[in-house]
Amino acid sequence: MGTKSLCLLLASVLVAYYVYTPVPETIEERWKLMLINAGFRTVAHVAEFAEWLGLVHYMEVLMMITSIEYTAPISDENVTVTDTKFNNVPVRLYVPRKQSSGLKRAVIYIHGGGWCVGGSAMEPYDLLSRWTANELNAVVISIEYRLAPMYHFPVQFEDVYAVVKFFLQNSVLAQYEVDPNRICISGDSAGGNLAAAVAQQLLDDAEVKAKLKIQALLYPALQTLDLDLPSYKDNENKPILPKSLMVRFWSEYFTTDVSLKEAMASNRHVPAESSHLFRFVNWSNLLPEKFKKDHVYASPIYGSSRLGKKYPGFLDPRAAPLLADDTKLFGLPVTYVLTCQHDVLRDDGIMYVSRLRKVGIEVIHDHIEDAIHGALIFITSPTDLALGHRVANKYIKWLNMNL
Ligand SMILES: *[C@@H]1O[C@H](CO)[C@@H](O)[C@H](O)[C@H]1NC(C)=O
Ligand SMILES: *[C@@H]1O[C@H](CO)[C@@H](O)[C@H](O)[C@H]1NC(C)=O
Repeated sequence: MGTKSLCLLLASVLVAYYVYTPVPETIEERWKLMLINAGFRTVAHVAEFAEWLGLVHYMEVLMMITSIEYTAPISDENVTVTDTKFNNVPVRLYVPRKQSSGLKRAVIYIHGGGWCVGGSAMEPYDLLSRWTANELNAVVISIEYRLAPMYHFPVQFEDVYAVVKFFLQNSVLAQYEVDPNRICISGDSAGGNLAAAVAQQLLDDAEVKAKLKIQALLYPALQTLDLDLPSYKDNENKPILPKSLMVRFWSEYFTTDVSLKEAMASNRHVPAESSHLFRFVNWSNLLPEKFKKDHVYASPIYGSSRLGKKYPGFLDPRAAPLLADDTKLFGLPVTYVLTCQHDVLRDDGIMYVSRLRKVGIEVIHDHIEDAIHGALIFITSPTDLALGHRVANKYIKWLNMNL
Protein backbone atom coordinates (compact mmCIF):
# COMPACT_ATOMS: atom_id res chain seq x y z
CA MET A 1 0.00 0.00 0.00
CA GLY A 2 1.37 3.40 -0.98
CA THR A 3 1.88 6.16 1.55
CA LYS A 4 -0.88 8.17 -0.08
CA SER A 5 -3.52 5.48 0.26
CA LEU A 6 -2.38 4.76 3.81
CA CYS A 7 -2.82 8.44 4.67
CA LEU A 8 -6.19 8.46 2.98
CA LEU A 9 -7.27 5.38 4.89
CA LEU A 10 -6.06 6.86 8.19
CA ALA A 11 -7.80 10.16 7.44
CA SER A 12 -11.09 8.42 6.64
CA VAL A 13 -10.88 6.34 9.81
CA LEU A 14 -10.29 9.51 11.82
CA VAL A 15 -13.17 11.32 10.12
CA ALA A 16 -15.47 8.34 10.61
CA TYR A 17 -14.42 8.14 14.25
CA TYR A 18 -15.09 11.84 14.69
CA VAL A 19 -18.44 11.80 12.89
CA TYR A 20 -19.71 8.63 14.51
CA THR A 21 -21.93 9.16 17.54
CA PRO A 22 -24.09 6.43 18.95
CA VAL A 23 -27.49 7.36 17.52
CA PRO A 24 -30.25 4.92 18.49
CA GLU A 25 -31.23 2.47 15.72
CA THR A 26 -34.83 3.65 15.78
CA ILE A 27 -33.91 7.15 14.64
CA GLU A 28 -34.34 7.79 10.93
CA GLU A 29 -31.64 9.42 8.78
CA ARG A 30 -29.00 8.35 11.29
CA TRP A 31 -26.00 9.33 9.20
CA LYS A 32 -27.37 12.73 8.36
CA LEU A 33 -28.00 13.32 12.04
CA MET A 34 -24.46 12.15 12.86
CA LEU A 35 -23.06 14.62 10.34
CA ILE A 36 -25.15 17.45 11.76
CA ASN A 37 -24.05 16.49 15.24
CA ALA A 38 -20.41 16.41 14.13
CA GLY A 39 -20.97 20.00 13.01
CA PHE A 40 -22.36 20.91 16.43
CA ARG A 41 -19.44 19.19 18.16
CA THR A 42 -16.91 20.97 15.98
CA VAL A 43 -18.43 24.32 16.91
CA ALA A 44 -18.33 23.29 20.57
CA HIS A 45 -14.65 22.35 20.30
CA VAL A 46 -13.77 25.59 18.55
CA ALA A 47 -15.68 27.50 21.22
CA GLU A 48 -13.87 25.67 24.02
CA PHE A 49 -10.52 26.28 22.41
CA ALA A 50 -11.19 29.97 21.74
CA GLU A 51 -12.35 30.40 25.30
CA TRP A 52 -9.35 28.54 26.65
CA LEU A 53 -7.09 30.90 24.69
CA GLY A 54 -8.91 33.74 26.38
CA LEU A 55 -10.17 35.16 23.08
CA VAL A 56 -13.93 35.04 23.53
CA HIS A 57 -16.64 33.64 25.77
CA TYR A 58 -17.80 30.15 24.75
CA MET A 59 -21.35 31.34 24.07
CA GLU A 60 -20.14 34.14 21.79
CA VAL A 61 -18.77 31.54 19.38
CA LEU A 62 -22.08 29.66 19.43
CA MET A 63 -23.89 32.94 18.91
CA MET A 64 -21.73 33.79 15.88
CA ILE A 65 -22.66 30.48 14.30
CA THR A 66 -26.38 30.83 14.95
CA SER A 67 -26.37 34.40 13.65
CA ILE A 68 -25.39 33.06 10.21
CA GLU A 69 -28.92 31.71 10.07
CA TYR A 70 -30.56 35.09 10.67
CA THR A 71 -33.05 36.21 8.07
CA ALA A 72 -34.55 39.61 7.36
CA PRO A 73 -38.25 40.16 8.13
CA ILE A 74 -39.55 39.43 4.63
CA SER A 75 -43.27 39.33 4.00
CA ASP A 76 -44.65 36.70 1.66
CA GLU A 77 -47.94 36.23 -0.15
CA ASN A 78 -49.62 34.93 3.04
CA VAL A 79 -48.02 36.70 5.95
CA THR A 80 -46.82 40.24 6.65
CA VAL A 81 -43.62 40.08 8.67
CA THR A 82 -42.19 43.03 10.59
CA ASP A 83 -39.63 43.62 13.31
CA THR A 84 -40.98 45.93 15.95
CA LYS A 85 -40.93 46.47 19.72
CA PHE A 86 -43.48 45.69 22.40
CA ASN A 87 -42.75 47.45 25.68
CA ASN A 88 -39.24 48.19 24.39
CA VAL A 89 -38.46 44.51 23.74
CA PRO A 90 -37.84 43.55 20.10
CA VAL A 91 -40.34 41.12 18.58
CA ARG A 92 -40.87 39.70 15.12
CA LEU A 93 -44.49 39.96 14.20
CA TYR A 94 -46.36 37.75 11.71
CA VAL A 95 -49.77 38.95 10.62
CA PRO A 96 -51.76 36.84 8.15
CA ARG A 97 -52.94 38.68 5.04
CA LYS A 98 -56.03 36.60 4.51
CA GLN A 99 -59.17 38.58 5.19
CA SER A 100 -61.18 36.94 7.93
CA SER A 101 -64.62 37.90 9.12
CA GLY A 102 -64.10 37.31 12.84
CA LEU A 103 -61.27 37.84 15.27
CA LYS A 104 -57.98 35.97 14.85
CA ARG A 105 -56.14 33.64 17.15
CA ALA A 106 -52.66 34.53 18.46
CA VAL A 107 -49.53 32.57 19.34
CA ILE A 108 -46.75 34.09 21.42
CA TYR A 109 -43.58 32.17 20.57
CA ILE A 110 -40.34 31.98 22.57
CA HIS A 111 -37.32 30.48 20.82
CA GLY A 112 -34.88 28.04 22.39
CA GLY A 113 -31.10 28.22 22.73
CA GLY A 114 -30.33 27.74 26.40
CA TRP A 115 -31.04 31.42 27.32
CA CYS A 116 -27.68 32.13 25.64
CA VAL A 117 -28.06 31.73 21.89
CA GLY A 118 -30.62 31.70 19.10
CA GLY A 119 -33.08 34.29 17.90
CA SER A 120 -36.52 34.75 16.45
CA ALA A 121 -34.85 35.70 13.16
CA MET A 122 -33.10 32.34 12.84
CA GLU A 123 -34.30 30.61 9.71
CA PRO A 124 -36.01 27.62 11.38
CA TYR A 125 -37.79 29.81 13.95
CA ASP A 126 -38.81 32.27 11.27
CA LEU A 127 -40.20 29.42 9.17
CA LEU A 128 -42.02 27.83 12.11
CA SER A 129 -43.70 31.16 12.88
CA ARG A 130 -44.74 31.61 9.23
CA TRP A 131 -46.21 28.13 9.16
CA THR A 132 -48.09 28.78 12.38
CA ALA A 133 -49.44 32.13 11.16
CA ASN A 134 -50.44 30.64 7.84
CA GLU A 135 -51.97 27.36 9.02
CA LEU A 136 -53.93 28.91 11.88
CA ASN A 137 -54.57 32.27 10.28
CA ALA A 138 -53.15 33.55 13.56
CA VAL A 139 -51.04 36.51 14.63
CA VAL A 140 -47.65 35.24 15.81
CA ILE A 141 -45.37 37.24 18.09
CA SER A 142 -41.85 35.83 18.26
CA ILE A 143 -39.86 37.39 21.10
CA GLU A 144 -36.26 38.60 20.82
CA TYR A 145 -35.36 38.55 24.50
CA ARG A 146 -31.88 39.46 25.71
CA LEU A 147 -29.39 36.64 26.23
CA ALA A 148 -26.62 35.41 28.53
CA PRO A 149 -23.72 35.85 29.15
CA MET A 150 -24.38 39.55 28.59
CA TYR A 151 -27.64 39.37 30.56
CA HIS A 152 -28.50 36.89 33.28
CA PHE A 153 -31.71 35.78 34.94
CA PRO A 154 -34.22 37.38 35.44
CA VAL A 155 -33.63 39.57 32.35
CA GLN A 156 -34.73 36.86 29.89
CA PHE A 157 -37.86 36.18 31.93
CA GLU A 158 -38.63 39.87 32.36
CA ASP A 159 -38.24 40.64 28.66
CA VAL A 160 -40.69 37.90 27.76
CA TYR A 161 -43.06 38.94 30.52
CA ALA A 162 -43.00 42.55 29.37
CA VAL A 163 -43.99 41.52 25.84
CA VAL A 164 -46.76 39.19 26.97
CA LYS A 165 -48.18 41.79 29.32
CA PHE A 166 -48.12 44.43 26.62
CA PHE A 167 -49.81 42.19 24.08
CA LEU A 168 -52.54 41.01 26.48
CA GLN A 169 -53.95 44.52 26.88
CA ASN A 170 -57.42 44.83 25.41
CA SER A 171 -56.46 47.82 23.29
CA VAL A 172 -53.50 45.96 21.73
CA LEU A 173 -55.52 42.81 21.10
CA ALA A 174 -58.18 44.93 19.45
CA GLN A 175 -55.58 46.66 17.29
CA TYR A 176 -54.44 43.28 15.93
CA GLU A 177 -57.99 41.93 15.76
CA VAL A 178 -57.15 39.12 18.17
CA ASP A 179 -59.72 37.16 20.13
CA PRO A 180 -58.78 37.56 23.85
CA ASN A 181 -60.07 34.03 24.50
CA ARG A 182 -57.86 32.33 21.94
CA ILE A 183 -54.25 33.11 22.82
CA CYS A 184 -51.46 30.59 23.22
CA ILE A 185 -47.96 30.84 24.65
CA SER A 186 -45.45 28.42 23.14
CA GLY A 187 -41.75 27.78 23.30
CA ASP A 188 -39.14 25.13 22.73
CA SER A 189 -36.37 24.13 25.13
CA ALA A 190 -35.30 27.31 27.01
CA GLY A 191 -38.28 28.98 25.31
CA GLY A 192 -40.55 26.32 26.81
CA ASN A 193 -39.02 27.15 30.17
CA LEU A 194 -39.85 30.84 29.74
CA ALA A 195 -43.35 30.06 28.47
CA ALA A 196 -44.11 27.89 31.50
CA ALA A 197 -42.65 30.45 33.90
CA VAL A 198 -44.59 33.33 32.36
CA ALA A 199 -47.85 31.35 32.35
CA GLN A 200 -47.42 30.74 36.10
CA GLN A 201 -46.58 34.35 36.85
CA LEU A 202 -49.58 35.68 34.92
CA LEU A 203 -51.91 33.89 37.33
CA ASP A 204 -50.87 36.28 40.10
CA ASP A 205 -50.98 39.43 38.02
CA ALA A 206 -54.19 41.30 38.68
CA GLU A 207 -53.40 43.84 35.96
CA VAL A 208 -53.68 41.26 33.19
CA LYS A 209 -57.27 40.66 32.20
CA ALA A 210 -56.96 38.39 29.16
CA LYS A 211 -56.22 34.75 30.00
CA LEU A 212 -54.10 32.32 28.02
CA LYS A 213 -56.17 29.55 26.51
CA ILE A 214 -53.24 27.20 26.00
CA GLN A 215 -49.56 26.77 26.81
CA ALA A 216 -47.46 24.58 24.53
CA LEU A 217 -44.17 23.41 26.01
CA LEU A 218 -41.90 21.76 23.47
CA TYR A 219 -39.14 19.70 25.11
CA PRO A 220 -38.90 22.36 27.84
CA ALA A 221 -36.22 22.79 30.54
CA LEU A 222 -38.16 23.06 33.79
CA GLN A 223 -35.91 22.45 36.76
CA THR A 224 -32.41 23.18 38.06
CA LEU A 225 -32.43 20.98 41.13
CA ASP A 226 -31.64 17.49 39.95
CA LEU A 227 -29.30 17.30 36.98
CA ASP A 228 -28.90 13.55 37.41
CA LEU A 229 -32.39 12.44 36.44
CA PRO A 230 -32.70 9.17 34.51
CA SER A 231 -33.00 11.21 31.29
CA TYR A 232 -29.74 13.04 32.08
CA LYS A 233 -28.05 9.70 32.69
CA ASP A 234 -29.51 7.87 29.69
CA ASN A 235 -28.87 10.69 27.25
CA GLU A 236 -25.67 12.19 28.56
CA ASN A 237 -24.01 12.16 25.13
CA LYS A 238 -26.90 12.15 22.71
CA PRO A 239 -27.15 14.67 19.89
CA ILE A 240 -27.52 17.66 19.94
CA LEU A 241 -27.62 18.53 23.60
CA PRO A 242 -25.09 16.63 25.74
CA LYS A 243 -25.44 16.95 29.50
CA SER A 244 -22.28 19.07 29.70
CA LEU A 245 -23.82 21.70 27.42
CA MET A 246 -27.13 21.71 29.30
CA VAL A 247 -25.25 22.23 32.58
CA ARG A 248 -23.36 25.06 30.95
CA PHE A 249 -26.59 26.66 29.70
CA TRP A 250 -28.24 26.39 33.10
CA SER A 251 -25.31 27.85 35.01
CA GLU A 252 -24.76 30.57 32.42
CA TYR A 253 -28.39 31.65 32.82
CA PHE A 254 -27.50 32.74 36.36
CA THR A 255 -23.83 33.60 36.28
CA THR A 256 -20.57 33.30 34.40
CA ASP A 257 -18.89 32.24 37.68
CA VAL A 258 -17.64 28.72 36.93
CA SER A 259 -18.16 27.54 40.50
CA LEU A 260 -21.89 27.19 39.84
CA LYS A 261 -21.23 25.22 36.65
CA GLU A 262 -18.85 22.91 38.46
CA ALA A 263 -21.26 22.34 41.34
CA MET A 264 -24.10 21.67 38.88
CA ALA A 265 -21.95 19.24 36.90
CA SER A 266 -21.54 17.11 40.01
CA ASN A 267 -25.17 17.72 41.05
CA ARG A 268 -24.09 19.25 44.37
CA HIS A 269 -25.30 22.78 43.94
CA VAL A 270 -28.47 22.86 46.04
CA PRO A 271 -27.99 24.02 49.63
CA ALA A 272 -29.45 21.91 52.44
CA GLU A 273 -31.74 24.84 53.39
CA SER A 274 -33.59 24.20 50.13
CA SER A 275 -34.06 20.46 50.71
CA HIS A 276 -37.85 20.94 50.84
CA LEU A 277 -37.83 21.77 47.11
CA PHE A 278 -36.68 18.30 46.12
CA ARG A 279 -40.15 16.90 46.51
CA PHE A 280 -41.18 18.90 43.42
CA VAL A 281 -38.66 17.08 41.27
CA ASN A 282 -38.71 13.66 42.92
CA TRP A 283 -38.59 11.41 39.89
CA SER A 284 -39.19 8.41 42.07
CA ASN A 285 -42.80 9.63 42.45
CA LEU A 286 -43.24 11.67 39.31
CA LEU A 287 -41.96 9.44 36.53
CA PRO A 288 -43.96 6.55 35.13
CA GLU A 289 -42.22 3.16 35.52
CA LYS A 290 -41.21 2.92 31.87
CA PHE A 291 -38.90 5.91 32.20
CA LYS A 292 -37.33 4.83 35.47
CA LYS A 293 -35.97 1.61 33.97
CA ASP A 294 -33.25 0.29 36.29
CA HIS A 295 -32.35 3.64 37.80
CA VAL A 296 -32.31 3.78 41.58
CA TYR A 297 -33.45 6.92 43.36
CA ALA A 298 -30.74 8.33 45.63
CA SER A 299 -31.27 11.07 48.17
CA PRO A 300 -29.91 14.45 47.13
CA ILE A 301 -26.38 15.49 48.06
CA TYR A 302 -26.32 19.09 49.23
CA GLY A 303 -23.87 21.78 48.31
CA SER A 304 -22.62 24.85 50.10
CA SER A 305 -25.15 27.48 51.04
CA ARG A 306 -22.84 30.09 49.53
CA LEU A 307 -23.98 29.32 45.96
CA GLY A 308 -27.66 29.45 46.85
CA LYS A 309 -27.19 32.83 48.55
CA LYS A 310 -25.08 34.26 45.77
CA TYR A 311 -27.28 33.05 42.91
CA PRO A 312 -30.78 32.59 44.33
CA GLY A 313 -32.11 32.54 40.75
CA PHE A 314 -31.60 28.82 40.35
CA LEU A 315 -34.03 28.15 43.19
CA ASP A 316 -36.64 30.54 41.80
CA PRO A 317 -39.75 29.12 40.07
CA ARG A 318 -39.45 31.88 37.44
CA ALA A 319 -36.30 30.04 36.34
CA ALA A 320 -37.41 26.55 37.27
CA PRO A 321 -41.21 26.28 36.93
CA LEU A 322 -41.24 22.77 38.42
CA LEU A 323 -40.30 24.34 41.75
CA ALA A 324 -43.66 26.09 42.01
CA ASP A 325 -45.91 24.86 44.78
CA ASP A 326 -49.09 22.96 43.81
CA THR A 327 -51.20 25.95 44.80
CA LYS A 328 -49.38 27.98 42.12
CA LEU A 329 -50.31 25.46 39.43
CA PHE A 330 -54.09 25.74 39.83
CA GLY A 331 -55.58 27.88 37.14
CA LEU A 332 -52.94 27.16 34.50
CA PRO A 333 -54.33 26.85 30.99
CA VAL A 334 -54.73 23.63 29.03
CA THR A 335 -51.19 22.41 28.52
CA TYR A 336 -49.53 20.64 25.62
CA VAL A 337 -46.19 19.02 26.49
CA LEU A 338 -43.98 17.48 23.85
CA THR A 339 -41.08 15.33 25.07
CA CYS A 340 -38.37 13.44 23.20
CA GLN A 341 -37.10 10.06 24.32
CA HIS A 342 -33.42 10.76 23.58
CA ASP A 343 -33.19 14.06 25.43
CA VAL A 344 -31.62 15.04 28.76
CA LEU A 345 -34.67 17.25 29.34
CA ARG A 346 -37.18 14.45 28.76
CA ASP A 347 -37.93 13.92 32.46
CA ASP A 348 -38.39 17.64 33.15
CA GLY A 349 -41.35 17.61 30.76
CA ILE A 350 -42.74 14.32 32.03
CA MET A 351 -42.57 15.39 35.68
CA TYR A 352 -44.43 18.59 34.85
CA VAL A 353 -47.11 16.50 33.13
CA SER A 354 -47.48 14.45 36.35
CA ARG A 355 -47.57 17.50 38.60
CA LEU A 356 -50.12 19.36 36.48
CA ARG A 357 -52.38 16.32 36.15
CA LYS A 358 -52.27 15.82 39.93
CA VAL A 359 -53.80 19.24 40.48
CA GLY A 360 -56.37 18.70 37.75
CA ILE A 361 -54.95 20.67 34.84
CA GLU A 362 -55.83 19.23 31.44
CA VAL A 363 -52.59 18.06 29.85
CA ILE A 364 -51.96 16.59 26.43
CA HIS A 365 -48.65 14.78 26.41
CA ASP A 366 -46.98 13.85 23.11
CA HIS A 367 -43.97 11.70 23.79
CA ILE A 368 -41.93 11.04 20.67
CA GLU A 369 -39.98 7.80 20.95
CA ASP A 370 -37.62 8.34 18.05
CA ALA A 371 -36.79 12.00 18.69
CA ILE A 372 -33.81 13.96 19.92
CA HIS A 373 -33.70 17.33 21.63
CA GLY A 374 -34.09 20.33 19.34
CA ALA A 375 -35.96 18.43 16.61
CA LEU A 376 -37.84 21.57 15.57
CA ILE A 377 -34.77 23.44 14.41
CA PHE A 378 -34.14 20.84 11.72
CA ILE A 379 -36.68 22.06 9.19
CA THR A 380 -34.48 24.08 6.86
CA SER A 381 -31.97 22.90 4.27
CA PRO A 382 -29.26 21.64 4.44
CA THR A 383 -29.89 20.52 8.03
CA ASP A 384 -33.51 19.47 7.59
CA LEU A 385 -34.63 16.12 8.94
CA ALA A 386 -37.89 14.26 8.38
CA LEU A 387 -38.13 14.24 12.18
CA GLY A 388 -38.13 18.05 12.31
CA HIS A 389 -40.99 18.27 9.85
CA ARG A 390 -42.94 15.55 11.63
CA VAL A 391 -42.62 17.27 15.04
CA ALA A 392 -43.49 20.70 13.59
CA ASN A 393 -46.56 19.28 11.85
CA LYS A 394 -47.71 17.48 14.97
CA TYR A 395 -47.43 20.62 17.09
CA ILE A 396 -49.08 22.95 14.58
CA LYS A 397 -51.88 20.48 13.92
CA TRP A 398 -52.56 20.23 17.64
CA LEU A 399 -52.57 24.02 17.98
CA ASN A 400 -54.92 24.40 15.06
CA MET A 401 -57.41 22.01 16.60
CA ASN A 402 -57.23 23.30 20.16
CA LEU A 403 -56.62 27.03 20.06
C1 LIG B 1 -49.19 30.46 1.11
O1 LIG B 1 -50.24 29.60 1.48
C2 LIG B 1 -50.52 28.57 0.57
C3 LIG B 1 -51.75 27.83 1.06
O2 LIG B 1 -51.58 27.43 2.39
C4 LIG B 1 -49.31 27.69 0.40
O3 LIG B 1 -49.55 26.68 -0.54
C5 LIG B 1 -48.11 28.53 -0.03
O4 LIG B 1 -46.94 27.72 -0.09
C6 LIG B 1 -47.90 29.67 0.95
N1 LIG B 1 -46.81 30.52 0.52
C7 LIG B 1 -45.67 30.66 1.20
C8 LIG B 1 -44.66 31.60 0.62
O5 LIG B 1 -45.45 30.09 2.23
C1 LIG C 1 -38.72 10.75 46.89
O1 LIG C 1 -39.67 9.73 46.78
C2 LIG C 1 -39.27 8.52 47.38
C3 LIG C 1 -40.33 7.46 47.07
O2 LIG C 1 -41.62 7.92 47.30
C4 LIG C 1 -39.10 8.75 48.88
O3 LIG C 1 -38.67 7.55 49.49
C5 LIG C 1 -38.07 9.82 49.10
O4 LIG C 1 -37.98 10.14 50.47
C6 LIG C 1 -38.45 11.09 48.34
N1 LIG C 1 -37.37 12.04 48.47
C7 LIG C 1 -37.56 13.34 48.53
C8 LIG C 1 -36.35 14.19 48.70
O5 LIG C 1 -38.66 13.87 48.45
